[in-house]
Amino acid sequence: MSDAADRPVGDATRVVAAGRRAEWTGGIVNPPVWRASTILYDDVAALRAAGGRDTHHRLFYGRRGTPTQWSLADALTTLEPGAEATFLYPSGVAALAAALLSVLSPGDELLLVDSAYDPTRSMATGLLKRFGIATRFYDPLIGAGIADLIGDRTRAILLESPGSLTFEVQDLPAIVAVAKARGLVTLLDNTWATPLFFPAIERGIDLSILACTKYVVGHSDVMIGSVTAAPGHFAKLRDTSFQLGQVVSPDDAWLASRGLRTMAVRLAQHQRSALAIAHWLAARPEVAAVLHPALPDCPGHAHFVRDFKGSSGLFSFVLAGGDEAARAALIDTLRLFGIGYSWGGFESLALPVDPQRYRTATRRDDAGPMVRLQIGLEDTDDLIADLDAGLAAFRAARG
Ligand SMILES: Cc1ncc(COP(=O)(O)O)c(C=O)c1O
Repeated sequence: MSDAADRPVGDATRVVAAGRRAEWTGGIVNPPVWRASTILYDDVAALRAAGGRDTHHRLFYGRRGTPTQWSLADALTTLEPGAEATFLYPSGVAALAAALLSVLSPGDELLLVDSAYDPTRSMATGLLKRFGIATRFYDPLIGAGIADLIGDRTRAILLESPGSLTFEVQDLPAIVAVAKARGLVTLLDNTWATPLFFPAIERGIDLSILACTKYVVGHSDVMIGSVTAAPGHFAKLRDTSFQLGQVVSPDDAWLASRGLRTMAVRLAQHQRSALAIAHWLAARPEVAAVLHPALPDCPGHAHFVRDFKGSSGLFSFVLAGGDEAARAALIDTLRLFGIGYSWGGFESLALPVDPQRYRTATRRDDAGPMVRLQIGLEDTDDLIADLDAGLAAFRAARG
């Protein structure tokens, strides 16, 4: 395996091999579950020698992890070329919180994309504000214009590309260039693309954040998050995370490692099916717009074409007219799409979404209500037939 690791290999090969160090697996194919709180030492001298801040990858105390968590963190680092290391968290939101707290101090200002995941916004306007950190929301399509928003107190820029619910693709190279020139830290919520479709650290991002709950786990049964740091950014992230007492259950890390092994082939199928369905929807008269980064209607589509290696399974569409009841008739008619939060699992989901409720720097003027789809691993034709029935119900309810 070490010979293969030295040659450039494809994504599917990388996720199969990542993190499976012999000293952590002991010959077992997927790293097993090591459960621990207490670690026993041979004598007092060994106990004294085990301490210190940098206990990563060394058994010390359960909160500092065991080979089960280290293996997953190591795998995620491997998937981000150029990264220093990764810290794991019990959810994606916990990962976002630790990343932000590792770079911001009272008196600082954060620039936060207006299309960010709503709980990220709430963290900024709630927790961060309470600790004296100000937030300025910016247009996801601002690009190099972000330079005009930077003031004396600006310390960091948080990006999420594509944006939650509306999928605007940011001009990330332009924003990273401004941030580097002005000495700001960049953080990216990279959950939609994953490092396979957008290698964030290689592209100049300082902290790459994943809700591993989605595509890494892939089976809708575990909450987990990660932050992967560029060189020079890990020590602060680790210290902040230790001080916050963050630790992930080894059972959850084990399930995430298991999910990771199939992430590349799952993503390929999510991509194929979501693209077919997005194009089918775009040709329907009941649909006013399809917000999928790979389709020309999506704001920032040119950035997607330039910067991304692929697209995943989550996108939205805007209905041509209709009201809340007509949208509900569509969604309630679907038999293969579950109604529920989250995404990235093997099963399809449909969600009514109202992005304007979460925007302050930009305004949307959509032709009708919006639906977000998570395209799972079912047969594409079956999903299209289901949506066809849903659109018929929408037509009838719209009148
Ligand atoms: C883009 C994005 N980031 C972060 C999160 C948060 O992840 P978690 O649910 O694991 O806290 C989500 C969850 O839906 C998300 O959609």
